[in-house]
Amino acid sequence: MPSSNLPENAEAAKAEIRELRTQINYHNHRYYVLDNPDIEDKEYDLLMRRLITLETAYPELITGDSPTQRVGGAPAEGFLRVAHLTPMRSLGNAFSEEELMAFHQRVINGLAQTADIEYVVELKIDGLAIDLVYENGRLIRGATRGDGYEGEDVTGNIRTIRSVPLALEHESLAIPPLLEVRGEVYMPRKAFDRLNRERSAAGEPPFANPRNAAAGSLRQLDPQMTSKRALDVFIYGIGIHEGVDIQTHTQMLQYLQKLGFKINPLYRVFKRIEDVVGYCTEWAQKRGDLAYDIDGMVVKVNDLAGQERLGFTAKDPRWAIAYKFPAEQAVTVVEDIFTGVGRTGVLTPTAILRPVKVAGSTVSRATLHNQDFINEKDIRIGDTVIIHKAGEVIPEVIGVIVEKRMGKEQPFVMPAACPECGWPVVRQQGEAAHKCTNAHCPALFREGLIHFVSRDAMNIEGLGPSILTALIDAKLVTSAADLYTLTAGQIINLERMGDKSAQNLLAAIEASKQAGLARLLYALGIRFVGVKAAGIIARHFGCMQAVREASFASLTELNEIGEKTAESIVAFFAVPENLEFIERLEAVGVVMTEEKPQQTASQLLQGKTFVLTGILPTMTRTEATAVIERLGGKVTGSVSKKTDYVLAGSEAGSKLDKARNLGIEILTEEQFRQLVE
Ligand code: IVH
Repeated sequence: MPSSNLPENAEAAKAEIRELRTQINYHNHRYYVLDNPDIEDKEYDLLMRRLITLETAYPELITGDSPTQRVGGAPAEGFLRVAHLTPMRSLGNAFSEEELMAFHQRVINGLAQTADIEYVVELKIDGLAIDLVYENGRLIRGATRGDGYEGEDVTGNIRTIRSVPLALEHESLAIPPLLEVRGEVYMPRKAFDRLNRERSAAGEPPFANPRNAAAGSLRQLDPQMTSKRALDVFIYGIGIHEGVDIQTHTQMLQYLQKLGFKINPLYRVFKRIEDVVGYCTEWAQKRGDLAYDIDGMVVKVNDLAGQERLGFTAKDPRWAIAYKFPAEQAVTVVEDIFTGVGRTGVLTPTAILRPVKVAGSTVSRATLHNQDFINEKDIRIGDTVIIHKAGEVIPEVIGVIVEKRMGKEQPFVMPAACPECGWPVVRQQGEAAHKCTNAHCPALFREGLIHFVSRDAMNIEGLGPSILTALIDAKLVTSAADLYTLTAGQIINLERMGDKSAQNLLAAIEASKQAGLARLLYALGIRFVGVKAAGIIARHFGCMQAVREASFASLTELNEIGEKTAESIVAFFAVPENLEFIERLEAVGVVMTEEKPQQTASQLLQGKTFVLTGILPTMTRTEATAVIERLGGKVTGSVSKKTDYVLAGSEAGSKLDKARNLGIEILTEEQFRQLVE
């Protein structure tokens, strides 16, 4: 395809333009909708450039649905109000299992049906609802929900969302003359974080959450701005549809998917309400794993005739309900800011919050990371703040509600003297952290000890920070090695320590001697040596003696051990006190070796290379990749002779053909599950 030569005449140009648009639309769909491209970015750019060249030479051939026309049009002065073809309803809410059961009972009554009712359960995407109208397969309008009857015409902005098809194409399906679809525009979390970083750097206020960011982006008057905002969409419903023969909601989703719309693949069908509840609570737990925010689940009667019979109340459908998760965000007050010293001497400020319920638990603290974080968000003592907590993650302050300030709020300044020992605190150039300058700061020892006994390290149960502090205060422990020579008589005198707990504690300490080299290496608290690096080093060298003698070169030879880590390990073992400490541990019987790994589950796919293609029935690509990597395998983007397996789902493309040609083993999700279970 010569990029500089122009076609002989307008007719030839027209044909080439048509072909290019089809190809580009196909690749857009693979990239933005299926998340499964089958060409390199460079090749895609060439196609796009050729199309632009031809359209520049023949501007009369430019049409609104050309992929070059996603970002076009002048900034609007405001948005027109437009009426939806059919009203956009919202959903009633269920906040508990009981309310979900009550909904089920209403459905049973409404349908006068005693047999199982089939439900579809979908993720409730936390963005904003949009309505798209296609005439003869061309996107002619995109609008916000507004009041459900009328919304704002944001077509120019919707067009910039790459996963929204501008033109519907299918080889065998007839494209309906008029089609109205509904979905949710959202901003993926990564894009949200990036946007907020850029905004802070530019001195603009950050968005409180991805939903606000998506709404703000979709309501930009200039589509150029919207196009920079990495918005995405999931389509979940249909309004007017002429000439489409579908009986169930799931058939509708599949139909929309075939037409090129992006459907969330995590919907499931259940016949038993218990399973519906189970799936809802499952995602309440796992929501943090997703790349985007969800605020609940949506439960819908699958049968469209049943939906029609149930109909609507004044406001909401009787055939669907939103099961809402407990809020992950809350508003509270920063009562104080406390500065703690960590085991490396770094001072970390923590917000002491007025206790508030978030995501099902009470939160009274949030990390503030460092002075820069506090300055960036301008967090002051006394401020009203929005906090966020997702799953296991430590709560974070997202932003300050500046309007609530009364004038008495106190800015925070990092103390000049260490709160533990009074030594000067310094901030090295180029580093975010303030550090205590005292190499013997008592905090270092205490925090180091807390780390030594922690779950991923020596895992000594029952030895929490308060007992450790008591042991240190009573001068019973001046080195972690002292833990192993404690006697029942010594610890029984500690506050709140009964005979039984003393015995349990001693047993836990004794058992930790068998933790093995990997845990021990991690427990030593060597800079840059996390759980993973410690495991790699322990398995490779097998015993402490070999690790002690390992050279910088032999360490960096290991996969995943970088120069900084290697340097830090060598430096650690060059310090006589550290060697003495290890010798003391050895003398009391702490195991210094790592069992050679047997063929455990985590080695199952060692050295195996996978390529994923198509849409898997129940797993996302991220989930499948996580399983493969956990078992020691690798996932790459393209099929070659080195590929061991191709895991293929529906709509798999050229990768599958290539795998067949090369004779590479092809697995369905089911076969894959059998392989790894
Ligand atoms: S169905 C008549 N399904 O939740 C039923 N809504 O009040 C129409 N939402 O803002 C809604 N994910 O945009 C449906 N899978 C999903 C959804 C979903 C998110 C939003 C919707 C609306 C709100 C419902």
